[in-house]
Amino acid sequence: MRLTRRYRFSASHRLHSHALSDEENRRIYGKCNYPFGHGHDYVLEVSVTGPLDAATGRIVDLDTLDGLVAREIVTPLDHKNLSLEVGAFRETVPTTENLVAEIRRRLDAAWSGAFGVAGPSLERIRVEETKRNYIELA
Ligand code: NI
Repeated sequence: MRLTRRYRFSASHRLHSHALSDEENRRIYGKCNYPFGHGHDYVLEVSVTGPLDAATGRIVDLDTLDGLVAREIVTPLDHKNLSLEVGAFRETVPTTENLVAEIRRRLDAAWSGAFGVAGPSLERIRVEETKRNYIELA
C-alpha cells in the first residue's frame, strides 16, 4: 500500500546559475532570472509505503509524518527566499529539480530518526511549482 500526503509552502527564488554567464542565464531562464526574484505556492506530495499495521490499521503514523515534514521542510522553507536564505541554494540554482532533490536529502537524513529502522519507506516525492509542471523523485 502507498499513502500520499500533500503539503503546501510558499517561497521565492531567482533562477541564476553561477556556472553560466549573465547572458546565458537571461537566455535560459528568461523572466525567472529577473534580479529581484518571484514567488511560488509550492505543493509537496510525500508518498510512503509500508506494511499495514494490524493494530492501527495504518501504514504510517500521520502525526509523525506531519511533524517530520513540518520540521525539515515546511518550517525552514515557507516564506523564505530560497536563493538567499537557504544554504543549499547558495551555489545551486533553485529549480524545481534541485528543490525536490534537497527535500529528498532532508527527509532521508531524518527519516529513521522519526520512524525507526523498521518504519515505513519514503517512496516518492513530488513538487509542483506551477499548475503546468511538477517534478517527481522516486
Ligand atoms: Ni520560479
